[in-house]
Amino acid sequence: MNNAAIEARIASLQGRIETVLDRALSLPDAATARLRDAMRYSALGGGKRLRPVLVYTTGSALGASLEALDAPAAAVELIHVYSLIHDDLPAMDDDDLRRGRPTCHRAFDEPTALLAGDALQAHAFEVLSQSAAGGITPDVRLAMIRVLAEAIGTSGMAGGQAIDLESVGREIDLTALEDMHRRKTGALIRASVLLGAIAAGVGAGERYAALARYGAEIGLAFQIQDDILDVEGNAEQLGKTPGADAAHGKPTFPSRVGLAEARRLALAAQDRAIAALAPLAPLDEPEMLRELAHYVVRRAH
Ligand code: IPE
Ligand code: IPE
Ligand code: MG
Ligand code: MG
Ligand code: MG
Repeated sequence: MNNAAIEARIASLQGRIETVLDRALSLPDAATARLRDAMRYSALGGGKRLRPVLVYTTGSALGASLEALDAPAAAVELIHVYSLIHDDLPAMDDDDLRRGRPTCHRAFDEPTALLAGDALQAHAFEVLSQSAAGGITPDVRLAMIRVLAEAIGTSGMAGGQAIDLESVGREIDLTALEDMHRRKTGALIRASVLLGAIAAGVGAGERYAALARYGAEIGLAFQIQDDILDVEGNAEQLGKTPGADAAHGKPTFPSRVGLAEARRLALAAQDRAIAALAPLAPLDEPEMLRELAHYVVRRAH
């Protein structure tokens, strides 16, 4: 696959997830139009869709149909959007700009943003629990629900966010910083890769372990690059306000070790991710997974 083919493949998956999310968020039973509008406002028409792209890419490399991957792909993005809405709230990072638009609590109001996040989280599990397309069995469905729940709870994303908040204004050592990044961001990215594998019937063994390592390392690389972009990026490209980490005294890789060393550590995580793919060599699309490992570090937004 050359670069143009890889980019075309990513664009096509981004288009697919947009349609799947639009359908998943029709929400005819929503109690209020305002809650439904806030959920749709935050979830549709923006973002890189990296996590769904990882579900689709991993799953198809292992032989799953795109139809079987639609539900887990939608679920990880719904969780991600919930995490962004809550992360932006005044009680957390207090950000006004997200995906080039006012944050959910700015466009609506704080209570609505809180509830939109809650409802998106619940909806992700509803979507996953209903997934039957492409031959997904109840056992596979349960395994996916478990992996996603473990990734976002006290030991994963929510735990990492708790460390983030408790570390504001403190000096934390590099090991603790890396642990925080692996939890708050890496865990959901790792789960995205694993959901693709599970949907394809790969739920244990050497290939599963290799993919878990791959996902964890690109997850770490992704958050280090996010920290770097907060220093180097501009609002137009990022779609969020740069400099917010320093302004809030957040512990980040650039603030802890400097930009050059942060870049080196992101590339080292990228290389470990690519090395982890070795046992998967005969797969159809290992190139695409390799390319995504480069992409998380190379990206400018
Ligand atoms: C931003 O994630 C929040 C982090 C976990 C670093 P993304 O950079 O994937 O945000 P979108 O989905 O493209 O907007
Ligand atoms: C976000 O980390 C991690 C989440 C779980 C949402 P950041 O706070 O660095 O993400 P941005 O920079 O606001 O997107
Ligand atoms: Mg944050
Ligand atoms: Mg933030
Ligand atoms: Mg950030």
